[in-house]
Amino acid sequence: MTTLASPEVSVLVRVFVVAGGASLTIFALIALAWLLSSLRRRRLLGIDGRWIVVTGCDSGLGQDLAGQLASRGARVVACCFTEAGAKAALAHGVALAPCFDLSDEDAIVRAAREIEVACGGALWALVHNAGIVLPGFIDYQPMSFLRRVMEVNFFAPALLTKQLLPCLRKARGRITFVSSVDGIVSLPGNAPYDASKFAIEAYADALRAEQFPWGVHVSVVNPATMRTPMAMGFFEAHRRAWEESERLDPDGEWRSAYPREWLDAYVRLNTANLERIAQDPRHAVSDIKHSITAVRPRLRYLSGALAKTLFYALWVGPEAWSAWFKRALIRPRPVQLPPSPSKER
Ligand SMILES: NC(=O)c1ccc[n+]([C@@H]2O[C@H](COP(=O)([O-])OP(=O)(O)OC[C@H]3O[C@@H](n4cnc5c(N)ncnc54)[C@H](OP(=O)(O)O)[C@@H]3O)[C@@H](O)[C@H]2O)c1
Repeated sequence: MTTLASPEVSVLVRVFVVAGGASLTIFALIALAWLLSSLRRRRLLGIDGRWIVVTGCDSGLGQDLAGQLASRGARVVACCFTEAGAKAALAHGVALAPCFDLSDEDAIVRAAREIEVACGGALWALVHNAGIVLPGFIDYQPMSFLRRVMEVNFFAPALLTKQLLPCLRKARGRITFVSSVDGIVSLPGNAPYDASKFAIEAYADALRAEQFPWGVHVSVVNPATMRTPMAMGFFEAHRRAWEESERLDPDGEWRSAYPREWLDAYVRLNTANLERIAQDPRHAVSDIKHSITAVRPRLRYLSGALAKTLFYALWVGPEAWSAWFKRALIRPRPVQLPPSPSKER
């Protein structure tokens, strides 16, 4: 008969005690490493007198960021689209406010030369924040939408980065790309924007590895919906895109599946949802600021509650669940048409 004091039981107890102790030690070490790393992440650098370039400063995140950095003593170059935006940025204390169209390559090269002279060849940070969105469903979007969005959201930051890399290397500086949750999870009704953000993610990833030897750090910020002119005007922009498509292709087959009544209902329903989920832009601005002022910046910032929860789950979770969720987002559904005889098998 086995008793509690038998050798088998005492070996078992000893195994449990050793395994339990080892697990506790591992857990304590992980917790300590996490604590030390988050304490280190809180340490900030002084940015007084450092040159920082931010694009898209006419409104939204860029306008807010440029003002905050200037008030902390940084020498901010606030790149604007309009004269009015540049004037407002200068009134908020930025050092320079070049005004140019990011889809104009010559203008980007000229602005880069101006920045190089102003910063004396040493640039601390470059924040690619400017962006545009041209929403719509692929069935009716003209190709020009894809090209325009790629110009501003992808080719412009790529060219400006290339022009300013020598200055960033000299300062062992930072490059921050403001992507989007759409840069990790593509959503229906916004393909050109999503493609441009996926492209910039890939570019940033390669750039980070290539620039590591020179001490240039690359971060990516992925905001969820923030209350800015771009986000709050999203579904009205969708309406304008639909109307532009109607003008370009008035007899297109797409109009039967996406009639005006569908468009009106789509804009109404989804604008109400947008109002519910939009967050304070300060979440994203604070993450962008951290990427250029922290002693140890993160590689990626998921900005806002939805980015950290829903979009993170859609990003890393099973693709089939993500695909189901994206299909369910299309509400109301486009009008289902019987297949035309020529397309029947
Ligand atoms: N707000 C959100 O929910 C959200 C979510 C995810 C990611 N983001 C990203 O965050 C960044 C900032 O967006 P935001 O929400 O602050 O939008 P926003 O207020 O529309 O800001 C975008 C800025 O880019 C400028 N811009 C647009 N086209 C340009 C061009 N061709 N040349 C030069 N400048 C141009 C705009 O100038 P004008 O104002 O004069 O047009 C504006 O200053 C964007 O990259 C966006 O994709 C935003």
